Amino acid sequence: MKYLVIGHPIAHSKSPQIHQAFAEQFNLLDFTYERCLAPLDGFAALLAEFAEAGGGGVNVTVPFKEEAFRLCTALTERAAAAGAVNTIKCADGVLLGDNTDGAGLVADLLRHTGLAGKRILLLGAGGAACGVLLPLLAEKPLSLTIANRSVARAISLAEKFSGNIKITAQAFDTLAGEFDVIINATSASLAGDTLPLATTIFARDCLAYDMMYGKGETPFMKQARLAGASQCSDGLGMLLGQAAEAFYVWTGLRADVQPVLAAMRAAL
Ligand code: ATR
Repeated sequence: MKYLVIGHPIAHSKSPQIHQAFAEQFNLLDFTYERCLAPLDGFAALLAEFAEAGGGGVNVTVPFKEEAFRLCTALTERAAAAGAVNTIKCADGVLLGDNTDGAGLVADLLRHTGLAGKRILLLGAGGAACGVLLPLLAEKPLSLTIANRSVARAISLAEKFSGNIKITAQAFDTLAGEFDVIINATSASLAGDTLPLATTIFARDCLAYDMMYGKGETPFMKQARLAGASQCSDGLGMLLGQAAEAFYVWTGLRADVQPVLAAMRAAL
């Protein structure tokens, strides 16, 4: 069965090596997974052509996740909540849109710490933050706070996802109290910026998690470590986690993330 990851740009994508490694774990000889660069106005045509030719599924990356959400003919609950699709299963003429980013994040967070009953702080209110809220809330934290540079975006996300669990929206400079798990879903570090966070918000045994990853410590991890967070992680495990969840959506098989993560970490 054929699978693709479609994006623009796409050359940097590590998804082919990840999915090939998963397929090898199960000896899936007919599993192929390739990168595909779509022109900015060419995603819909490529997806339709691939599905019509009998393709099994597609991973979608920047900047097509919202367009994929609109094009899919059915959506999982978590994709509907995220407003974005990163995984499409093509079967029987149906394009089923899913979003595995949140599940990938939660799986990686749980490798570090429990989430039930914890005070979680989510930094950022863009697409990356929106995509992970439903799976985070499903872990039943004590509270969830969203802080963002533009507080209006934090408020609108908090209103959209408020239910049994209390969601509070804040600006960075109004954050008070301390948190057990602090997740960076902003793209501030891409611009070389550090978030203006008080050191007091990091509880003593806080897990600070950056959805970004790279060689060595990210700027957010450094900031958290200096503020006293006892555990700091980058988002490489989330990348593997969302891939494992997509692989499961397509094949019904649960890949072992750990050896692939270790190999990729060593190669960074
Ligand atoms: P993504 O899909 O990566 O989430 P996005 O929707 O553009 O991309 O959202 C980027 C997030 O990073 C937003 O929360 C943004 O804050 P604003 O909503 O205030 O723009 C945040 N962000 C980006 N650059 C930032 C910076 N230099 N400092 C603080 N937050 C920043």
